[in-house]
Amino acid sequence: MTERTLVLIKPDAVRRGLIGEILSRYERKGLTAVSAELRTATAEVLDQHYAEHVEKGFYPELREFMMTGPLLALVLEGDSAIPVVRALNGATDGRKAEPGTIRGDWSLSNQANLVHGSDSAESAVREIAIWFG
Ligand code: TYD
Ligand code: MG
Repeated sequence: MTERTLVLIKPDAVRRGLIGEILSRYERKGLTAVSAELRTATAEVLDQHYAEHVEKGFYPELREFMMTGPLLALVLEGDSAIPVVRALNGATDGRKAEPGTIRGDWSLSNQANLVHGSDSAESAVREIAIWFG
């Protein structure tokens, strides 16, 4: 089933010059970019995007990190795009993520983990609306 999902290539990835490498992985898998915007997130947008996490202990530091520089917001489209992106991204903590995944290959952090991908169809619709109106 063709789906759309919201991906963020986070500020750590942009700083490290990994936009091209990361986008290539999604594209070579067969996903297509249908929207893209490089921007610096605001606290307001992040509070909406991470609504499920705003009360958690790690959230204030996460929010600061997400505002440390521009990120690339993307909508990717393709067959089963939502679970496929999550699989390509790997486990949340880069130290535990499988080699061969984006986080597994290039992150050693539970916070600076390079990418975000929507976790369900409902999240994808909600997150695409937040970032792309
Ligand atoms: P989460 O939704 O659990 O992970 P995922 O991005 O894999 O869906 O958490 C959202 C982001 O919050 C995660 O990408 C990085 C950050 N985070 C922390 O900074 N510390 C933590 O302990 C956790 C669980 C997440
Ligand atoms: Mg999540």
